[in-house]
Amino acid sequence: MTDPVIVASDLGRRFGETVAVSQLELTVQAGEVFGFLGHNGAGKTTTIRMLNGILTPTTGSARVLGLDPMVDGTQLRSRTGVLTETPSLDERLTGRDNLTIYADLYRVPKDEVQARVDELLTGFDLIDRADDKAGGYSKGMKQRLALARTLLHKPEILFLDEPTSGLDPVAARQVHEMILQTTRQQGHTVFLCTHNLVEAQRLCDRVGVMEHGKLVALGSPRDLARQLVTNLTVDFEVDASSVPGALQALTAGGVTASAGQQAGTILVSGAAREQIPDQVSLLVNAGIRIYGVTPQEPTLEDVYFALHGEEPVQHNQAEVIQ
Ligand SMILES: Nc1ncnc2c1ncn2[C@@H]1O[C@H](COP(=O)(O)OP(=O)(O)OP(=O)(O)O)[C@@H](O)[C@H]1O
Ligand SMILES: [Mg+2]
Repeated sequence: MTDPVIVASDLGRRFGETVAVSQLELTVQAGEVFGFLGHNGAGKTTTIRMLNGILTPTTGSARVLGLDPMVDGTQLRSRTGVLTETPSLDERLTGRDNLTIYADLYRVPKDEVQARVDELLTGFDLIDRADDKAGGYSKGMKQRLALARTLLHKPEILFLDEPTSGLDPVAARQVHEMILQTTRQQGHTVFLCTHNLVEAQRLCDRVGVMEHGKLVALGSPRDLARQLVTNLTVDFEVDASSVPGALQALTAGGVTASAGQQAGTILVSGAAREQIPDQVSLLVNAGIRIYGVTPQEPTLEDVYFALHGEEPVQHNQAEVIQ
């Protein structure tokens, strides 16, 4: 990671009375997977559109790949790929023809088009349906075709607006692998808008969280979790026979603790990281032998809900939060 490829300074956009994006300061480095999170209407898509010269900012400025999107939009868009929220395909054409026509628009060298198109159709598992009309594709197949189209010209920055929405888990995994390949192998940058916090946690080097047009948090998922989520759950592993004594010692020290499901484990909840050494001292002073202390690392989902002042609802890992 060296040069910033995206720089936004005081970037803002109003639509009449609606402030869609306000005073956005953001720098994204080459090779990063940057996640852009936030509620519906938080300003994510508006930001992507401004960064690609599709929408004029009302305040501030941006530089993307060293270019001003409003001045050099066409040149810029030949070096970026944008997957919009509702990509339009030509439904009367086959999947293959949809890609071939765009390859021409993107000026992929003529002698490379067929191989590139085949490579993408294969990579996105569409090769068997390549010669069927796109209008007959399922929603997920259309999304995969749109993604393949975005990659035709090997863009240096890939802007993906909810790329896995509507995809089955296998197809979503393929998209994740494509994102990682794009950055890790080709050194390209990915700017990813997603409502899927598990996806963001898995893929993103850093995330920004937008709320009502303002950037309210910025950092790596791990750093944000440590800064913003102060209520940890900590697992203590002790002798099974000493669980009652350990609970008594912790409770006497004002710590909320309960026996874990597995024999010899104790759960302390609502703890700040700095309190863990004191809890260990309480146990050691009570003569309890400790075999393990494991703080449960907070997730990006915990961060998201902490920022919005809400408790996360218990749900399974694969669930998408809309
Ligand atoms: N062309 C437009 N005309 C009027 N208002 C707009 C326009 N585009 C966006 N907005 C408003 O700007 C705000 C931000 O919208 P935006 O689409 O950027 O949100 P988002 O974060 O992408 O939301 P979502 O998660 O639902 O996609 C919203 O209040 C939206 O109604
Ligand atoms: Mg959007």
